[in-house]
Amino acid sequence: MAKRVGVLTGGGDCPGLNAVIRAVTRRCLDRGYEVLGVREGWRGLVEGRFQPLGPREISGILPRGGTILGTTRTNPYKSDDGVERVLANFEEQGLTALVVIGGEDTLGVASRLFAEHGLPVVGVPKTIDNDLSATDYTFGFDTAVAIATEAIDRLHTTAESHNRVMVVEVMGRHTGWIAVVSGIAGGADVILIPEQPITVEEACEELRRRHDRGKDFSIVVVSEGYELTYSSGHKRGAGQAPAASDEFGHVRLGGVGDLLAKEIEDRTGYETRVTVLGHVQRGGSPTPRDRVLATRYGLKAADLVEEGNFGQMAALRGDAIVSVSLAEAVAELKKVPPEWYEVARAFFG
Ligand code: F6P
Repeated sequence: MAKRVGVLTGGGDCPGLNAVIRAVTRRCLDRGYEVLGVREGWRGLVEGRFQPLGPREISGILPRGGTILGTTRTNPYKSDDGVERVLANFEEQGLTALVVIGGEDTLGVASRLFAEHGLPVVGVPKTIDNDLSATDYTFGFDTAVAIATEAIDRLHTTAESHNRVMVVEVMGRHTGWIAVVSGIAGGADVILIPEQPITVEEACEELRRRHDRGKDFSIVVVSEGYELTYSSGHKRGAGQAPAASDEFGHVRLGGVGDLLAKEIEDRTGYETRVTVLGHVQRGGSPTPRDRVLATRYGLKAADLVEEGNFGQMAALRGDAIVSVSLAEAVAELKKVPPEWYEVARAFFG
């Protein structure tokens, strides 16, 4: 019997999702398998929403942002019969394998379904946040960094003209990868991230030091997950009330840029403005690097299906695409290591 492979994209959308869908589908079709798209992440398997994928569906999607399958943050473990419905729909559709493209939440569900129910899943690491363990890079990150870097470059010229401090708030959830890498690339004067939280006082001191050297404009990059940290030890975050959390218990972040800008202006007297990049970082076409990475991940996922190597995730190690256990990949967040922050810090002030 021909294999019937399901493909699902879950969590926040991310540039390169369509490139993975194309690569998985192309390789599976070449092998004579059928491919069935699952609509809107895990919701599609809970509610039975599908879309067959053939040559026509994947034509022209390589450079397209978003996901042709749609996506949600549905967690089947959050409803009473969610998992049973996933298993029943999988069976009913005659699926023999499922390629799950997602970040820690979506892949965490895949890992549990494999461990607890033997569901034949293969994972592909997606997220602009680059916070997944067991892989050097997730696809989507390079595009987000490119967009953030371009924004920093543009803010530089207007900051310089007006002698202003420009605070740029970037995404990244609880890790500062986008902030650190785009901040280094864009020549930021101060970068604040959750993993190595410098204090508000230190940040202001760096800006004063810079102004004392005759530089009367500055770029400050802050990661959305940074909490305002004071030398007294007090912390203040901008996260919204728990009511604004998703089905995976993640609080909606955003807003720390405004708080930080106010602190900087009050403490230093320098005119300060804020830009929140938000979902712009996830939109539009993937960079060539992300298209290639997503394509290599997609082919690897299809090969893992072919080998019957389930419970695994395609991963990048150095320049090689390898497979790692899904359980290992979702066990902990990949944080920005001190060495990376030190590179950024060398240019503060
Ligand atoms: O995980 C990707 C991400 O873009 C985070 O950086 C951000 O905190 C979150 O998703 C935003 O989620 P939503 O699209 O639901 O607002």
